[in-house]
Amino acid sequence: MAKRRVGILTSGGDCPGLNAAIRGVAYASFNLMDVEFVGINDGYKGLIDGTYQVMKPDDFTGLLTLGGTIVIEQDNIDKVAAMKKNYKNMKLDCLVTLGGNGTHKTANLLSEEGLHVIGLPKTIDNDIFGTDVTFGFHSAVDIATDVVDRIHTTANSHGRVMVIEIMGNKAGWLTLYAGIGGGADVILLPEIPYDIDKVIETVEKRTSKKRKFSIICVAEGAMDLEESVMKKKKRMEKRAAENYTSVSYRVADQIQKATGMEARVVVPGHYQRGGSPSAYDRVLATQFGAYAAQLIKDENYGNTVAMIDGSVGHNALIDVAGKTKFVPVDSEMIRTAKMTGACFGD
Ligand code: F6P
Repeated sequence: MAKRRVGILTSGGDCPGLNAAIRGVAYASFNLMDVEFVGINDGYKGLIDGTYQVMKPDDFTGLLTLGGTIVIEQDNIDKVAAMKKNYKNMKLDCLVTLGGNGTHKTANLLSEEGLHVIGLPKTIDNDIFGTDVTFGFHSAVDIATDVVDRIHTTANSHGRVMVIEIMGNKAGWLTLYAGIGGGADVILLPEIPYDIDKVIETVEKRTSKKRKFSIICVAEGAMDLEESVMKKKKRMEKRAAENYTSVSYRVADQIQKATGMEARVVVPGHYQRGGSPSAYDRVLATQFGAYAAQLIKDENYGNTVAMIDGSVGHNALIDVAGKTKFVPVDSEMIRTAKMTGACFGD
């Protein structure tokens, strides 16, 4: 078999586990075939600009625990013609793309243009269609849950309502898991429009039971009932007119005004996707990386690696591109959270 030349890029927001997955692809590939890797800088932008470097086997050591990505990221840019040209100029046999939904959309475009593409699902949002889980997600759950834990003790000490804003604009997986894992009293997700009166009722009920604090986990993309029926543009205009920094500040303000309790906002932000991957994500990224190497060896292109009903497998890029995996409103997880006392504002 002739030596393969494989391009590798990461695109979209970084997350813990990216480097572990890159290492997994490389190490397993070195075992399976004669291969050379080309690191493409700045995600798809590097493919458009033709900026890359040939990587030596030694470049992949020490990556298992390293946060961020060794091949810098940029937002997705759909200049397919330029990308095709540089794929050819770089003499690639295959392109491995590590990314979220936007990355998969572009990967599919390239695949449809005849390039040999293999995707790997990374995102702290866990919202890639067709996979039970993405790498990066569980590291972020651990971090966000730790935030909720720590906020619990200070909330208790001061008898405050603490509103914690958790990442996730479209899908609420991270907020759901951190909310359940941290024992939040209220969990607000983009998938379940909330009624602020229900949230206030929950806080007041706790006060009447002599619970002097409340913890509210709010996804970045949470919206109330009124907003949920608005088009995005209208919703943005409404938000701009209200002049809150984000939805969490509005929730806190409304609770404070209605209950008289002091309400504070905590926004852990990008802290949730920084640092070392958890052991779970190191294992998952390694499994996904090794599976991708097998796809390269088998020339099984046009696919993205996935965890399907607990086993590592793959989906066709075309079946995944442009879709989002939302939290199912009637899921067992939501039922569990409700049964154990969490309010979702519905
Ligand atoms: O997709 C990952 C993510 O961290 C989301 O949870 C969040 O909404 C978004 O990226 C933030 O993007 P940026 O890093 O561009 O601010």
